[in-house]
Amino acid sequence: MKKLNVAVIGCGSIARKRHLPEYHSNSQVNIVAVCDVVEERAKEMAEVYGALPFTNYMDAINLAEVDAVSVCLPNYLHASVTIESLDAKKHVLCEKPMAISIEEAEAMNQAAERNEKKLMIAHNQRFVSSHQKAKQLLDSGELGKVYSFRTTFGHGGPENWSIDGSSSWFFNKEAAFVGAMGDLGVHKADLIRYLIGEVSEVGAFVETAAKSNTTVDDNAVCILKMDSGVVGTLTASWSYSTNDNSTVIYCEKGTLQLENDPDYSLKVEYRNGDRVHHKLDKIQTNDDKAPVTTHTIDHFVESVLNDQTPLISGEEGLKSLQVILSALEANETKQIVELRKTTEVY
Ligand SMILES: NC(=O)c1ccc[n+]([C@@H]2O[C@H](COP(=O)([O-])OP(=O)(O)OC[C@H]3O[C@@H](n4cnc5c(N)ncnc54)[C@H](O)[C@@H]3O)[C@@H](O)[C@H]2O)c1
Repeated sequence: MKKLNVAVIGCGSIARKRHLPEYHSNSQVNIVAVCDVVEERAKEMAEVYGALPFTNYMDAINLAEVDAVSVCLPNYLHASVTIESLDAKKHVLCEKPMAISIEEAEAMNQAAERNEKKLMIAHNQRFVSSHQKAKQLLDSGELGKVYSFRTTFGHGGPENWSIDGSSSWFFNKEAAFVGAMGDLGVHKADLIRYLIGEVSEVGAFVETAAKSNTTVDDNAVCILKMDSGVVGTLTASWSYSTNDNSTVIYCEKGTLQLENDPDYSLKVEYRNGDRVHHKLDKIQTNDDKAPVTTHTIDHFVESVLNDQTPLISGEEGLKSLQVILSALEANETKQIVELRKTTEVY
């Protein structure tokens, strides 16, 4: 069977901890090129994975043997590198948030369409076992109507994650555009859309509470109203001293608790007193020492090789991006923002 030849653009933390090891462990993939503006980073990863090192991403993208590209770069580069790759007839797996504006995200989707190539956004929360099991339970109707939810993603901040530590691009508005909301909030916007449906209105407070080295937000609390009328909260923060990746969904016949207990990643507590606690695969966190697959890379590879639309297409990435852009707008204008109007605003 033909193997997929990939180029990984950006050799920072997400490439080192997820993309490169997960491509490497997929028997249907060859890592043929790696690229980073910092030459030693490209050379180091090239040596580990037996690939060619580049410092200019165009050189890596334009290699004839490259079939697919992973975009593991600061947010402001996602759209341009994705579009260049698609126009070079390569499939793309782009990191989140997909882009820094709706226009950019739309241009990325148009590039995928005109080149007939796959575009997937790395919203790995959809592949977490507890989240998938919760989706099955909700879709089966077993818990009845959804009444409300709260979803949170918080940790101490990217200084403990980015390859450049506290001087990282994550803290710079020009490169990141958005802080904890774009880093973490967009994951939960995608998760809640996956579990409950589309978001119709957003209200938000988006603040910088804990960091002095940044021009972006590090603490946000949002209220979401869904198309179904359900209301709930989404919080994203770089100010927590411990990791919180939890979601609670309150339903007619019981409550689902996801990633809210270290021993049981899904707890179902029925109104009649029954309790079912599931011990499923662990969610991957920044603190993980041992490799745990996110399934994101395997899903992208499968989608390309089997010519199937990935679960998180560019259209899905755009809708999740729209939730956080609307939250920023709601915060700035002190108004509730209706999502369908967002494209006219940005
Ligand atoms: N899916 C997830 O759970 C998840 C987790 C963390 C980060 N991310 C996303 O991954 C992306 C990258 O984040 P990271 O944590 O790896 O950041 P990082 O700071 O660790 O690494 C970024 C790398 O990009 C390189 N770079 C910058 N400009 C470049 C250019 N023009 N050409 C080539 N290389 C360039 C830098 O030298 C650096 O090595 C971000 O969009 C981030 O939001 C996703």
